[in-house]
Amino acid sequence: MCGAALYCRREEDLIHGGIMRSLMLVAGAILTLTVATGATAQTVGDADAGKKVYNKCRACHAVGEGAKNKVGPELNGIIGEKPGSIEDYKYSAGFEEWAADKTAWNEALMTEWLADPRAVVKGTKMAFPGLKKPEDLTNVIAYLASFDAEGKERDPAEALAAAAEQ
Ligand code: HEC
Repeated sequence: MCGAALYCRREEDLIHGGIMRSLMLVAGAILTLTVATGATAQTVGDADAGKKVYNKCRACHAVGEGAKNKVGPELNGIIGEKPGSIEDYKYSAGFEEWAADKTAWNEALMTEWLADPRAVVKGTKMAFPGLKKPEDLTNVIAYLASFDAEGKERDPAEALAAAAEQ
């Protein structure tokens, strides 16, 4: 009675089902890719966005070629460096004491410090209230990591990965 119509609908369903399955596979692949790149972006941060955050540091710190100490020490190659080791810079006694047993500025230590310097080092002379937004912290750290000890450009992801192992 309704044989032809039923047959047609079944065929349609089959085609539909096939397309849907392929679409879901593609969607799944895109999702996996997004999650993977998202994770890298989150751990390393965006150095370009960090350059803007760094405007809050500029009054006291220099970075890049020819950077000199100002109110605060110059920050070239700071990621991976031992805290408190910039020559010719006079750190506060509190900072020197805190830095003594630290081996390297890495993402974790820098995040703690920049979120609230005065809570990390009692008596620090870095008069800065701290960065509250997590993305400002990861981004400014990526920006700092993009300078080597001479103030030349380097890959921030590599610098942060190397510092994490120190
Ligand atoms: C008002 C001035 C001022 C501002 C603003 C400031 N700093 Fe500092 N910073 C200092 C001083 C001074 C020190 C030395 C701290 C001490 O000796 O107690 C310091 C120390 C540091 C150190 C330790 C360096 C080392 O040799 O181990 C880092 C890293 C740092 N600042 C990063 C930043 C960043 C990033 C920002 C912006 C988000 C910032 N500072 C904003 C003045 C400032």
